[in-house]
Amino acid sequence: MNYDALKITTQQAEDILFKLFNIKGKASELPGEVDFNFRIKIENEEGYILKISRPDEDENCLDFQQKLLQYVAKNGSNLIAPKVIHDTNGNTISSITDASGNKRNVRLLSWVSGRVLSDVNPQLDSLRFSLGEQCGLLTQALQGFAHKEAERGFVWDVAQSLWTKEYLHLFSSEEKEIISTFHQQFEAAQHSYSKLRKSIVHNDANDNNVIVSADLINPIVKAAIDYGDAIKTQIVNDVAIACAYAIMHHNDPLEAALPIVKGYHATFKLQEEELAHLYVAIAMRLVISVTKSAINKIKEPDNEYLLISEKPAWEVLKKWFQIHPEFASISFRETCGFQAHPMQQQFETWASKNDFSLSELFPSIDKKEVYRIDLSVSSKWIGHLEEAANLDLFQFKIEQLQKEHPEKIIAAGYLEPRSLYTSTAYDKIGNHGRESRTIHLGIDYWLPVNTPVHALFDGEVVTAVNDAGDKEYGGLIILKHHEEGVIFFTLYGHNTVDSVLKHHVGKIIKKGEKIAELGNYPENGNWAPHLHFQILLSTLNYVDDFPGVAYYRQIDVWKSICPDPTLLFASEALQPRKTVSNNDLIQYRKQHLGKSLSLQYKTPIKMVRGAGQYLIDQLGQKYLDTVNNVAHVGHENYTVVKAGQNQMALINTNSRYLHENINELAKELIETLPLELNVFHFVNSGSEANELAIRMVKAATGEKDIIASEVGYHGNANTCIDISSYKFDGKGGHGAPEHTQIFPLPDTFRGRYSDNDAASKYAKEVEKCIDNIQQKGRNVGGFIIEPIISCGGQVELPKGFLEKAYKAVRKAGGICISDEVQTGCGRLGKTFWGFQLHDVIPDIVTIGKPLGNGHPIAAVVCTQKVADAFANGMEYFNTFGGNPVSCAIATAVLKTVEQEKLQENALKVGTFLKLELNHLSKEFPIIGDVRGQGLFLGIELVDANLNPLAAQTAYLANRMKDYGILMSTDGPDHNVLKIKPPMVFTKENAKELIFYLRKIASEDFMQSF
Ligand SMILES: Cc1ncc(COP(=O)(O)O)c(C=O)c1O
Repeated sequence: MNYDALKITTQQAEDILFKLFNIKGKASELPGEVDFNFRIKIENEEGYILKISRPDEDENCLDFQQKLLQYVAKNGSNLIAPKVIHDTNGNTISSITDASGNKRNVRLLSWVSGRVLSDVNPQLDSLRFSLGEQCGLLTQALQGFAHKEAERGFVWDVAQSLWTKEYLHLFSSEEKEIISTFHQQFEAAQHSYSKLRKSIVHNDANDNNVIVSADLINPIVKAAIDYGDAIKTQIVNDVAIACAYAIMHHNDPLEAALPIVKGYHATFKLQEEELAHLYVAIAMRLVISVTKSAINKIKEPDNEYLLISEKPAWEVLKKWFQIHPEFASISFRETCGFQAHPMQQQFETWASKNDFSLSELFPSIDKKEVYRIDLSVSSKWIGHLEEAANLDLFQFKIEQLQKEHPEKIIAAGYLEPRSLYTSTAYDKIGNHGRESRTIHLGIDYWLPVNTPVHALFDGEVVTAVNDAGDKEYGGLIILKHHEEGVIFFTLYGHNTVDSVLKHHVGKIIKKGEKIAELGNYPENGNWAPHLHFQILLSTLNYVDDFPGVAYYRQIDVWKSICPDPTLLFASEALQPRKTVSNNDLIQYRKQHLGKSLSLQYKTPIKMVRGAGQYLIDQLGQKYLDTVNNVAHVGHENYTVVKAGQNQMALINTNSRYLHENINELAKELIETLPLELNVFHFVNSGSEANELAIRMVKAATGEKDIIASEVGYHGNANTCIDISSYKFDGKGGHGAPEHTQIFPLPDTFRGRYSDNDAASKYAKEVEKCIDNIQQKGRNVGGFIIEPIISCGGQVELPKGFLEKAYKAVRKAGGICISDEVQTGCGRLGKTFWGFQLHDVIPDIVTIGKPLGNGHPIAAVVCTQKVADAFANGMEYFNTFGGNPVSCAIATAVLKTVEQEKLQENALKVGTFLKLELNHLSKEFPIIGDVRGQGLFLGIELVDANLNPLAAQTAYLANRMKDYGILMSTDGPDHNVLKIKPPMVFTKENAKELIFYLRKIASEDFMQSF
């Protein structure tokens, strides 16, 4: 039929609306596959959707849809759903005659306002959970509803999806393999699938049919719309459809599906049998989708939209194909609160009835007890990762321990989160960024090389391989057991290859028979001789690479597939280690630590280990640290750690005794400084350094007045707070004290002066401060500033400002202090110290944070003149300042900066990062300014009128944490993201940072200003 003849104009729609429903509204066209749809807007009301059918439309179908909506309205009081509006004659379906004389059915439904799911970014777990909840509620509301139209044949019904078999020829060979595998799985499951519960369900919760609340930070699904695909089918198909679309665009679609299933189950209880079919049902919905696209492509080869919509379906289908169906089903069971592996309980009951002995597993070793060692991420026994990686050292430590506990077998832990697997080889990029496999699924027993391992019960060999070399197990053997109706497997890793290859798959091993002999490193892949013993309730088709460690997000699933092996040895069980929950830590802090100590992030994290540019939490998850300029040469840099440990083992005392370390540190620093700055006082913190610097100013000038920058921060001690506008002008502060003069933040982006002459104008502000002091009959003591003002928001001083300000201060008899607590030691790339960027030489430089790489050491360096003035006869004694341990550490830091060329790295990586950030600011105008030097950068978030956007900045930092990247915010308006990572930060790290900044900058909340 001629489309133009059928078309209804918006004017006609408005007339029809008025005539049939006596409603006046403004109509606009909406897309529709079958009906002609109009959005009807009415001021201050949600409005309507007017649906005008084609002349040939099946009235049964319309009747079904209207009755269904009415049924939902009656039974689903907790649901938001379109409501059927009666016409003025009380009909739910009215009709008109169009210009060509055709009868056209007309329906009016209430409008459900909101955004569609496909427009929502990001799609978080909480959002997908609410999607599941809404779909479940809808299915609940539809229980008991019947209509003959619901029994129709329908291509989008998963139950009827085998029609797609006819179109297999449309696909490439790889695609064919995927689709036909799913066809086979679906066909093979038909017997039990056909018996699953059926009811009428919505059947089309795709992301364009789901309405989401307006909240941009925690949006939830409000309603499903468009009931046109409703059908009577297996209920699990409805769950599958909600999943099939909402899991697109995720690296791990199974993980993305779990909240949906959980949400559905929360409002409509799913059955275990249904969950067993969910994996294939999801696959079949995707198979329908790609088959439909392939057919449509032939019909409309030029339609680019078809290609666009087909791509994500294929992407997810390919990823889905990689997931083992049983693993998916165990995961679905776990998320719904069922016992994850169906055999878990049976196994545990059987195991608890049988008390085996370790001497049965190792008959040549007559020991029954175990001595547990701690290999967890936070293990002090392991110590530094460099040492853990030293196989000889590890072996030695084990032998020493064995001598101390000769009657016990050394063993280590089931479900232990291990830092040993924190190398990138164990990483994947999941839905939350980088994730590491860390949770150990077996038990390790350390025993002499060649110790024989014997079978605890009868079994059949299912794997016997040489898994040495780059793999982790050495000689690996897996046995299958049937014990009193329970089927399970035992895995033995790290054996000699020869002892394992004596067996072949299918061989029957009798209880007590020798299975293997322990191998030695490096043949067995890692460490000293030890057996990795693991129980599996399923092999999930793994042959030689069954995981021995799991991702922590999947741990509840894995611990069900691999139960605790010590269940077999009740008398020798390893007692679970006590861990303190983060919540307990927080509660204790609240009671016993000062309330003014803050915690980072909405959900605080506990870090237990550092490694280079990464911090590692107690589960072994690595976070890329872009915040910590204290860990200057990298967290737990081995050279620095060793320097401290070695000196600590010899002597640590105060500087009243002679020791070469203090001199050596002074020499190291002198190498980096201008000749004039050559006298040192070593202290313990940046605050103490500035405190001392101000004492020196007072001693040298006899004046108390200090000039400092607005929003400057110089430490937590009394005098430091008095000169820190960041503090006294902030919360809880009482403004500048009498002897402090503050000049405006020399910011050329949003500060008082931003023109070419800003440097002079800000210098004039310093002069004004001098005038103020002098007008009170006093004179200036000192001038303190950072070369890049960090707490002020990484504000770079305008070129020439410092020179002019120094000149004015010195002319008035004052002393100039450069606070290099944040910026020093090569961080700024071009120069070792920040003041060197400005061609000035201060009288005093204060050095802090980076000097000890986390160890408390700081320094004040000054000119001979200032030092002489300070040495007025009163002894300067500092119990800890300049002690041999601290000095050894600081010297190692400085040497590392030099040897590892970290200043050059800061310049190279910093320049690259700044360039990339500048590109990002072109893409996202919210980034108003990119500034800083080397690896000391900042980006400022503002709207078009340069108003600060603090909420967006906090959001960005919090979201980056969700992807494993730590960032901090600062600045007077809390709208600057600071980037000041350990100096070992690489170009790859910078690329990763930019990748996630870009991803999050495009999220809805970041666009809402
Ligand atoms: C510029 C500046 N000076 C001084 C300090 C005080 O150092 P500390 O915390 O080591 O006492 C800080 C600390 O953040 C700082 O940023």
